[in-house]
Amino acid sequence: MQAPSPAPSKHIDTEQLRALLPPALHAWQLVCLRSTGSTNADLQQWLQQQPPTHAVRLCQADCQQAGRGRLGRTWQSRDGDSLTFSLAYNLPLPISSLAGLSLACGLALVEGLEAAGCPPGVQLKWPNDLLLQQRKLAGILIETHALRPQADSASPACWVIIGIGLNLRQDPALAEAIGQPPASLDTLLPDPPSTRILAHLLTALARVLNDFPQHGFAPFQGRWCERDAYAGQTVCVLENGQLVLTGIADGVDAQGRLCLITTAGRQTVYSGEVSLRPAPLA
Ligand code: BTN
Repeated sequence: MQAPSPAPSKHIDTEQLRALLPPALHAWQLVCLRSTGSTNADLQQWLQQQPPTHAVRLCQADCQQAGRGRLGRTWQSRDGDSLTFSLAYNLPLPISSLAGLSLACGLALVEGLEAAGCPPGVQLKWPNDLLLQQRKLAGILIETHALRPQADSASPACWVIIGIGLNLRQDPALAEAIGQPPASLDTLLPDPPSTRILAHLLTALARVLNDFPQHGFAPFQGRWCERDAYAGQTVCVLENGQLVLTGIADGVDAQGRLCLITTAGRQTVYSGEVSLRPAPLA
């Protein structure tokens, strides 16, 4: 009788990660930590302190004490029970062209999970949440960092920091604290192997970093709409907690704007500081 294989480690193994990445990613700088405040904040600080030496730097942490979320929220995660990581990337685009980037990253995460053997079921909620059974599985926080212009540098000074938090395992304490528990990947994929999943997510994100500067969101639009959690449903758009628009969700356009069919006709919404909710049943 064969001994059962041990459960995969909850912690990221940097050398295993490096070995799993395709050659195009071998030039990335990988920083894997057991614990930190926030991987987004770490990359901001890194960009402030020294001229970047790599085109892309990964900062991953098994545990964050001060994880940041969108719209000023916090992001909570327990040691090794979620994948929390950020990428700093020198984006050859003006900040004004970033609108669809977070949507393309969300799609890359879904496709990366599928490539890692995750059964279908993960959907996208505009602008950039991943949902599983209508509950949040992952979130993305994109921040920019303008470097002080260097006299001898021809490269654009805008860096983008793409921060990702993905729940791998259910945390009963967190579920109790939050009230409505978030989703976790282990309901689809038992004992999710953290390092292998991260390698697949990075591989999928690398395609976005490569394609987005040239083509924008347009090549991702169709695949995003196929995974739209709210397609055809009545939704509310909120700004600072206030209802600003209600309509039937009709996918996203080639710039990544939310399309709604409203009583006043078809309208589009930029991501900015807004969030989306399913409309309460009448
Ligand atoms: C959201 O509010 O949905 C976005 C959550 C983003 C959380 C991730 S975890 C890794 C990175 N570091 C942070 O402090 N935040 C992002």
